[in-house]
Amino acid sequence: MMMRTIDWHADGVRMIDQRLLPNRFETPVYHDYRDVARAITDMVVRGAPAIGAAAAFGLALAGRQSQANDRAQLMRDLEEAAAVLRQARPTAVNLSWALDRLMRVAIRADLETADDVRAALMAEAQQLADEDVALNRRMGFNGAALVEDGDTILHHCNTGALAAVDWGTALGVVFAAHEQGKRVHVLVDETRPRLQGARLTAWELKQRGISFDLIADNAAGHFMRTGQVRLCLVGADRIAANGDVANKIGTYTLGVVARENGVPFYSVAPTSTVDLSLAHGDLIPIEERNPNEVLNLQFEGERVAPEGITARNPAFDVTPHRYVTAIVTENGIVRPPFLKNLARAVNGSLTAESR
Ligand code: MRU
Repeated sequence: MMMRTIDWHADGVRMIDQRLLPNRFETPVYHDYRDVARAITDMVVRGAPAIGAAAAFGLALAGRQSQANDRAQLMRDLEEAAAVLRQARPTAVNLSWALDRLMRVAIRADLETADDVRAALMAEAQQLADEDVALNRRMGFNGAALVEDGDTILHHCNTGALAAVDWGTALGVVFAAHEQGKRVHVLVDETRPRLQGARLTAWELKQRGISFDLIADNAAGHFMRTGQVRLCLVGADRIAANGDVANKIGTYTLGVVARENGVPFYSVAPTSTVDLSLAHGDLIPIEERNPNEVLNLQFEGERVAPEGITARNPAFDVTPHRYVTAIVTENGIVRPPFLKNLARAVNGSLTAESR
């Protein structure tokens, strides 16, 4: 893309405002970590790896905002800021993964002064962002081995450059296959209610000149049953130790229909999205967002739903691991049994036979 989804710029955290795409391209810069937390909650920035990088830069910013002269006071300010950032969104584990990584830097014994800590936090946030780009590319090319020339791929939500610092996860596999010269076609789920597919994935694929059709979410089953989908590629916001995958609402339905129709179903996610502390997917917190995201849909210029009704708006669901063919990570393709092989992927010891 022309710039990273999130970076450090002009003494602040700069993000592409994803709420405005594809109609407007704006890049606000935030100078207060509380505003960074709000931007995550309001989905200025969204997508699991992007949220992680936003939290990292947010905490580095909090370090610079703190007036503390000594390390102990700075530590207290950082803990307060980390708590605010941590609650910005509950499902994507990349958020707390990134904060924990920076807090480990903050307590490093070799740092003497508060300013040393501030500098180290900024360097770590920058490194986390750079690593995100590099490992996403690696993951994309790992996954491209699953894609053949002429494939039609079903995709949900947005998992491209906008969902990470750059490049992306599941859509990164599509980009890699395309770069390898494979002719691919993508069926892009609109992804109600926030339409990340229609707004963001369609925008990214169009920019790259990759063939695609936008489809209503409820058309996905039809395309699978009639043999028009060779594989499904989705991302993940948190993967439990047993391979259960939490991802954008609607992913579970796709997984079940894919299994019913013999369509391989792959989740593409960096190991920072794997939460080995949770035994299974029912333990993953599922964000329930404001019902107005569902109720305020407009059709032909007018509100669709009657006034005065209620709605439910879970933002994620869990696809049990039995529906997941494999999980593509930066360390290789993880196949069942996930309990054993995911742990190997996380600690970097995935063997050829478990791939
Ligand atoms: O609510 P969002 O837009 O943050 O949800 C994003 C997704 O569900 C993605 O599929 C997920 O973060 C993985 S892709 C990087």
